[in-house]
Amino acid sequence: DKGNHRHFMQKEIYEQPEVIGHTLGSFVDMTTGRTRVPNGQSLDFKDIKRMAISACGTGYLAGLTGRYYFERHARIACDIDVASEFRYRESPLGDVDLALFVSQSGETADTLASLRYAKSMGLKTASVVNVQESTIARESDVVLPTLAGPEIGVASTKAFTCQLMALAALSIRAGVDRGVISPDEELAMTRALAEGPRMVAEAFKLEGQIEILARELATYRHALYLGRGLSYPLALEGALKLKEISYIHAEGYAAGELKHGPIALIDETMPVIVVAPHDRMFEKTVSNMQEVAARGGRIILITDEKGARAGAVSAMETLILPDMPEILTPIAFAVPLQMLAYHTAVHMGTDVDQPRNLAKSVTVE
Ligand code: M6R
Repeated sequence: DKGNHRHFMQKEIYEQPEVIGHTLGSFVDMTTGRTRVPNGQSLDFKDIKRMAISACGTGYLAGLTGRYYFERHARIACDIDVASEFRYRESPLGDVDLALFVSQSGETADTLASLRYAKSMGLKTASVVNVQESTIARESDVVLPTLAGPEIGVASTKAFTCQLMALAALSIRAGVDRGVISPDEELAMTRALAEGPRMVAEAFKLEGQIEILARELATYRHALYLGRGLSYPLALEGALKLKEISYIHAEGYAAGELKHGPIALIDETMPVIVVAPHDRMFEKTVSNMQEVAARGGRIILITDEKGARAGAVSAMETLILPDMPEILTPIAFAVPLQMLAYHTAVHMGTDVDQPRNLAKSVTVE
């Protein structure tokens, strides 16, 4: 049932404040602010120094964000691969202590095969999954649930932000286990995560502006998404969302790669969506944006209030979120990207919930 919404995708976008809150609740005791591994399972990160993450599509991009979280918060080195490569790469996984998988459906063929490979190599396995009765959940040593509820739209939205929430909380738990995060820092970080639902709700206020922008975006044939650090996986996710449902060719790049090729594409027919909260990478991203502006590229800047004040660039349009703790930016900044893809597709009249050639769950290679 779509309720008042025109599509499941839109309904699922709007469910995010609630479901990311639920998901956080299984990783954090909300009365004490302390992190935990859900459902009393045992997973101690104390001796985990290296992790291998693998997943497909949007799950992979959640995992890519997870790498930044785990490396920063817990000093655990993370290898990451798309599952279709991991399963065949025959990595010896020498010093890997834990294999981590991310899947909404829990049935994706390549992710399942990767899980089985890791197990055959004698590794401990943990999976962030949305469907608790799924094969991947059943076969994993530790199940890390996202509580997104059923996701019907083929383009993943609420499952993604719940995956980010789960990974962010778990990385804090890992940091505590490894003595990287002090009890005080743990409290401050979980308090920051608890602001997630409110920040996502704030992002909804941009919808009117995004709808107008989407009308213009729908007239282009290509789009480029740029981001750095925590916003790099988001740039890839924004591009994936747009191409999946609007069929506009979109590419996501680490902003620092601009000079190494994609800048050749920039002219007035190339909209460039820049994801840049005012974090430690902001200045660097702004200088990439200036390079785009100098070549006539049409910029849509997604930033926060601090970034909007600091980023002296003639952006075609600026979408401004509230200032927020860095750990939350992937979650909140995902929302305008989802809404931009959604409204662009609606303008183009494509089948938003069931885009051509795609299946919700890819159970064959
Ligand atoms: O069910 P999974 O999370 O394992 O699915 C992985 C991908 O197939 C999925 O994320 C896909 O990329 C989505 N259509 C993205 O919106």
